[in-house]
Amino acid sequence: MGIEKHFSDCLSERADEANRVLKKYLPSEEGYASRVAEAINYSVTSPGKRLRPILMKETYKMYGGKDQIIEPFMAAMEMIHNYSLVHDDLPAMDNDEYRRGRKTTHAVYGAGMATLAGDGLLNLAFETALSAIDLAPDKALRIIRAARILGEKSGIHGMLGGQAADVDAEDRNRIIDENELQYIHENKTAALLEASLMIGAVLADTPEEEITKLEKIGSAVGVAFQIRDDILDVTGDEKILGKHVGSDAENQKSTYVTLHGLEQSQIDVETLSEKAIKLMGSLSQKNEFLDELIEYLINRVK
Ligand code: IPE
Ligand code: IPE
Ligand code: MG
Ligand code: MG
Ligand code: MG
Repeated sequence: MGIEKHFSDCLSERADEANRVLKKYLPSEEGYASRVAEAINYSVTSPGKRLRPILMKETYKMYGGKDQIIEPFMAAMEMIHNYSLVHDDLPAMDNDEYRRGRKTTHAVYGAGMATLAGDGLLNLAFETALSAIDLAPDKALRIIRAARILGEKSGIHGMLGGQAADVDAEDRNRIIDENELQYIHENKTAALLEASLMIGAVLADTPEEEITKLEKIGSAVGVAFQIRDDILDVTGDEKILGKHVGSDAENQKSTYVTLHGLEQSQIDVETLSEKAIKLMGSLSQKNEFLDELIEYLINRVK
């Protein structure tokens, strides 16, 4: 009991920190483009879990990283994640009206402005990440390497690739097989979690073999995270989850749950998470909070 409370206090402290960092890099709402800045700020400041910047910062700390260059990357990662959500909710994609307990961005600002807000966040992410060079010009090389990972894991070789396969299956009403579902989960969701861990390590100048292991850990945690998301789309409580339950079924989407059933899905969340925790044990450094976080995500309800 005591340990659990300690963990949840740590988690909310770290989310607060991510929020403070994020706020520094948000656009000001002025001039003729003020409306898109409002839409960007509306989407980003809504109460997300901030899992990706938390994972990034914890990995950075684990490898002894101490300076501020991590902050623009934490903000950039959350911006890209938020862009993916704003677009994912659009009528042309999942057509969802609620996210994080609020109206989705397009439901408030219209689909055109929400599309631009997503695009704007994607650009702002790179503008923000690369501003780390101003903080530490001597670390430019690792900053550029980290920005490259951010690009690769967000685009066609990562998140966007997964989203594209997901949309394609839905648009053409295809029943997907295990391999394609694996590709979708690995890319639409795991890629950004992998990037979060990898960037934290790259910015702390961590040896290559550790980064390869972190990518594997991110993959296992990320796929487990999306399976749990698919489960919560069936069994979740809308009030706690903050988004519409039953969205996948309404879109006649093939998910982990439609392919494997609820029970096997949760078993696989556990198996993948245990694999991730085992891999964590093979790293050269230790971070107990990260282990606890992976454990906590197995039964998350939001
Ligand atoms: C939602 O991500 C989209 C998925 C990849 C499943 P999160 O569950 O991390 O969403 P927020 O940021 O906490 O709202
Ligand atoms: C989307 O998966 C993952 C993204 C890259 C945004 P979902 O469509 O299942 O995410 P939710 O359930 O809307 O958050
Ligand atoms: Mg989707
Ligand atoms: Mg969705
Ligand atoms: Mg979902």
